[in-house]
Amino acid sequence: MSILITNVRLYGEGDPVDVLLADGEIREIGAGLSVDGAEIADGTGQFLLPGFIDLHTHLREPGREDTETIETGSAAAALGGYTAVFAMANTSPVADNAVITDHVWKRGQEVGLVDVYPVGAVTVGLEGKQLAEMGTMAAGLGAVRMFSDDGMCVYDPLIMRRALEYANSLGVLIAQHAEEPRLTKGAVAHEGPTAARLGLAGWPRAAEESIVARDALLARDAGARVHICHASTAGTVELLKWAKAQGISVTAEVTPHHLLLDDSRLETYDAVNRVNPPLREASDVTALRQALAEGVIDCVATDHAPHADQDKCCEFAAARPGMLGLETALSIIVATMVDTGLLDWRGVAQVMSENPARIVGLDDQGRPLAVGEPANVVLIDPAAEWTVEANDLASIARNTPYQAMTLPAKVTATFLRGRATARDGKIVAG
Ligand code: DOR
Repeated sequence: MSILITNVRLYGEGDPVDVLLADGEIREIGAGLSVDGAEIADGTGQFLLPGFIDLHTHLREPGREDTETIETGSAAAALGGYTAVFAMANTSPVADNAVITDHVWKRGQEVGLVDVYPVGAVTVGLEGKQLAEMGTMAAGLGAVRMFSDDGMCVYDPLIMRRALEYANSLGVLIAQHAEEPRLTKGAVAHEGPTAARLGLAGWPRAAEESIVARDALLARDAGARVHICHASTAGTVELLKWAKAQGISVTAEVTPHHLLLDDSRLETYDAVNRVNPPLREASDVTALRQALAEGVIDCVATDHAPHADQDKCCEFAAARPGMLGLETALSIIVATMVDTGLLDWRGVAQVMSENPARIVGLDDQGRPLAVGEPANVVLIDPAAEWTVEANDLASIARNTPYQAMTLPAKVTATFLRGRATARDGKIVAG
């Protein structure tokens, strides 16, 4: 089975070329290719990028299949241009053992739309008290390469230190949800004038920043790598700059929603805007965009967090935190980073594909668009505009903060190992 993508611009640069995908590889790149029997995908006016990799996705299987499954989450990912996602461990039961992490990997492969890499929990039950069996999970079928208690912080500095030491010896990555829990008890919104006026309990920036600073120091002493999930404040950006300048192995991600939205959204008390870490202030948004453009923040990760209607259509403080993100990520990055002149399309490939692959050490994803490379690629119409309609998304849950917004750029096809997984907004059955 081969596919010829015609008249497409690689990374949105240079003259259009034809790209032949065959046997899972990029087989040929050139002008005016003609291949007998190849299916044609017309790339006129479109850009080709390496498939996106999401280091931070919540797929809710096992336990909350009423909000998302590996199958529906994989569909959302393929439609969003992703060829690999990392499924967080805060499922029910928690993915703190190889039975669950192996299941996540196997189920993802059965569905076949995107490679679903399981994230293992750092501590048993995400309780922060006892290290999970990281070695068994790393050695399992799911070959866990990233561990995180995301949703919860590994708050105990000694446990975090031990986790970093183990991770180092196993060659895996610890991703930290940076939130000092003693500073966020009861908090539901960014601590600032908006939350004060609206009567919402505040989540101070220092709750994030104190853990970022602490973990950078712990990583330094352990000679280990640490990855900061969903960076949300200007202060975190300053700490990352400092840590990187010291030669500490720290990487960080930012979510599309923290690049677009700020706490002025809370005025309506609509709980669709409740998320952890919370939407911050406009000055934080500016700093996060700049940091992503300059490489202080390494990559974009969605923190795709599906929730049931009953957990979102309720009073703000009772709602669960989190927002959908997989199907809208590219458009939000174009709106916040490309249309503002902060990144070009090669930069988009870096922050959505190449850098995430490097951070977790994937060797078949996030590769250059070149002959002989795996055919994990995404075709994008940069001139498209579309209006988000929650009911039309592939996710089971509907908690998108972008409902009814008109957004730029659209994924028109995603290819995993040369097979189309999504085309023209529809999933292609395997
Ligand atoms: O808003 C969030 N939702 N932040 C997290 O860290 C966890 C996530 C979830 O699992 O719903």
